Amino acid sequence: MQSAHLLVTGGAGFIGANFVHYWLAQHPCDRVVVLDALTYAGNRASLAAAEGNPNFRFVHGNILDLGLVEGLLRDEKIDTIVHFAAESHVDRSIHGPDAFIETNVVGTHTMLKAAKSVWLDSVQSPLDGGGGSGRGHRFHHVSTDEVYGSLGPDDPAFTEDTPYAPNSPYSASKAASDHLVRAYHHTYGLQVTTSNCSNNYGPYQFPEKLIPLVLLNILHGKALPIYGDGKNIRDWLYVEDHCRGIDLVLQRGAVGGVYNIGGHNEWTNIDIVTLICRLVDEAIAQDPVLAQRFPQAPAAQGKAADSLITYVKDRLGHDRRYAIDARKCRTELGYAPQESFETGIRKTIVWMLANEAWWRAVMDGSYRDWLDRQYGG
Ligand code: NAD
Ligand code: DAU
Repeated sequence: MQSAHLLVTGGAGFIGANFVHYWLAQHPCDRVVVLDALTYAGNRASLAAAEGNPNFRFVHGNILDLGLVEGLLRDEKIDTIVHFAAESHVDRSIHGPDAFIETNVVGTHTMLKAAKSVWLDSVQSPLDGGGGSGRGHRFHHVSTDEVYGSLGPDDPAFTEDTPYAPNSPYSASKAASDHLVRAYHHTYGLQVTTSNCSNNYGPYQFPEKLIPLVLLNILHGKALPIYGDGKNIRDWLYVEDHCRGIDLVLQRGAVGGVYNIGGHNEWTNIDIVTLICRLVDEAIAQDPVLAQRFPQAPAAQGKAADSLITYVKDRLGHDRRYAIDARKCRTELGYAPQESFETGIRKTIVWMLANEAWWRAVMDGSYRDWLDRQYGG
């Protein structure tokens, strides 16, 4: 089988970087080109393990740059786009929705226009030597379960047929992008797939999101901010299981198909934070070197990390519950997550403790400005 040529947008972000490492390991003959604007959430250091691989190339650029994207599709003979690039943090979308419309809606539309122009309209399609038939290409769009809105405690989990009801500027922008992807398939015949995934966690996650934020705050002896009553529910998936799901959609998914990827792993926020507190306390209790490295962590001072839990003002429009019904993925693609929450969260903690240089580097001035704005100085 011929090797594939992938363009991974947002490949320096959390899930994108994990996907690049996953793909290069699983498909070593394929070429992987990353296009990333390196916004505050993108970090070249997350791709360090791929640098030097002759099948890997990093391009610093914006998905809004149509000429750049078209040029890459042609020059690199790209046959597969895996589109992660997005503004991804709900809280930031509440403070400043414009960037979300620009990147998530206009940026996705730019990617679709480029794909259509190079794969479908071009007399000299790089894929078929000139017929412009669009044979053999794929545009995979990475989306979120948040497009389906919020569930009540007894509601059934989201299926692919659940009507869209996005509630935040972030989820509305992702919903708009999903619709554009669908429309480019229906109208122009672009060969698309979309996956809507639940909350991811794991290595390289930017510490504005709940799990890395809580972990790092424990290590620094800082308050653990819980929005509202802490009873909001999310369905958590280890990031590598998400990458595996996308791989299956690319290999076996029906063109035009939508697939929900999730973990059947619903947790309230307060339960997650309490669990992380316990695991970090145990890790520090078992390893005196950790207590020396992180003297402000409660366990290093003979206290429990859950003493840092602080209930704060709720997120505006905070969705109560998300849950994914992943039956379609399981039956059509043979998908099942491999990591349990217990093993995945332990791996995440071990990774964070072993990669202090990475998280110190991402906690730059703009990150500290964000913390001040969001949680107060
Ligand atoms: P992230 O914020 O960690 O990474 C996003 C990446 O996109 C960054 O590297 C950033 O530099 C890049 N980017 C942003 N704007 C860009 C632009 N205009 N041009 C080029 N690059 C740009 O996000 P993530 O958590 O890795 O999420 C990746 C994708 O997965 C997003 O589309 C998100 O909606 C989706 N998703 C995330 C989760 C989750 O739990 N994190 C769950 C389901 C779906
Ligand atoms: O469901 C998939 C989505 O998951 C993705 O589409 C998003 O890109 C991703 O950011 C994530 O969205 P959430 O808003 O669910 O993730 P976040 O980590 O920001 O918050 C998880 C829960 O924790 C949520 O109910 C809000 C709460 N929270 C979050 C932060 C940052 C707190 O209680 N305190 C906090 O400080």
